[in-house]
Amino acid sequence: MASSSLSVVLILCLAAAASAQLSTTFYDKSCPLALEKIQNGVATAVKNDRRMAASLLRMHFHDCFVQGCDASVLLNETSVGGNERGAFGNVGSLRGFEVIEQIKKDVEAVCKKPYSNHGPIVSCADILAVAARRCPVATHGPSWEVKLGRRDSTMASVTQIDQNLPAPFLGVAGLNASFVGKGFNLTDMVALSGGHTIGMAQCQNFRGRLYNESNINTTYATKLKFNCPQSGGNTNLAPLDDDTTIPPNPDLFNNDYFINLQSEKGLLHSEQVLYNATAAAGATEDIVKAFASSQAAFFSAFASAMAKMANLSPLTGSQGQVRSVCSIPN
Ligand code: HEM
Repeated sequence: MASSSLSVVLILCLAAAASAQLSTTFYDKSCPLALEKIQNGVATAVKNDRRMAASLLRMHFHDCFVQGCDASVLLNETSVGGNERGAFGNVGSLRGFEVIEQIKKDVEAVCKKPYSNHGPIVSCADILAVAARRCPVATHGPSWEVKLGRRDSTMASVTQIDQNLPAPFLGVAGLNASFVGKGFNLTDMVALSGGHTIGMAQCQNFRGRLYNESNINTTYATKLKFNCPQSGGNTNLAPLDDDTTIPPNPDLFNNDYFINLQSEKGLLHSEQVLYNATAAAGATEDIVKAFASSQAAFFSAFASAMAKMANLSPLTGSQGQVRSVCSIPN
């Protein structure tokens, strides 16, 4: 076995050992109302802003893929290791920091004495994981089991962002490389990219595809070009999923994303590459077809891949800390 494969195996073994220390009952004594508070906090935020479901789901992904699910993404610019929130791909794009901070306050307020006499109880990383689980539920999608007991990092890692967060211009091989190194298979990767059934993207992230690629539905492209000109309008938004429900509802968690890929209505390059009539995309095409024809199959694959994501390299036991405020280490 090559040494790089060995190190992937080693990382996966260590991650599995850490995630084995997580449990569904972790806060049962110290903060039995924690889950309810987090879920209500998300429900209220989504009621005020439908897009928040998408934003919080993405926040968990961007947390877990960089240094594991340790809430490093929430740390502000004063943190050791740099400011992940301010890094390319996150800045001007990730949303919902204030929602998580408010939930953290509300949760700590209901934790039990004497446990809470010794400091904060519920980690920001757990709050992110439980909040993300609530997002598809709030938009009529699936749910999954989240184990608890993650601890928060004391530092961020801006340098890990580029290597770990997949970019929208990647092809299948590049996307697969981002996911396989973290223990995901091709089905997981395609299912997780279905997270784009909700939420929005900025013109600057799909302009290249819109004006240069031929495998884009003409009517769809014409519609997009109104709001995403060849120059300017970088931050103008379009729904990631051109929902086919009547009336269209981009905030509905369903399998339209995969149906759309079959008619070349993927918004991002990294989406449409999953369904192209090319040899390279062959394996992902079958998965797209399966999810397009069965919403249940998509929901089940998405839920199991999200549960896997939530267990990526957690800090447990005496590692890290439980932050008092999610944006700054204690
Ligand atoms: C497969 C590789 C992926 C790539 C290349 C990618 C890329 C992107 C890009 C470029 C945006 C738009 C950001 C902006 O314009 O501000 C976006 C948004 C989003 N992504 Fe991904 N993403 C990927 C995987 C995922 C995964 C695994 C999830 C979650 C399971 C996810 C959930 C979302 C959501 C929900 C949004 C919308 C956020 C909002 O409206 O605030 N993405 N993604």
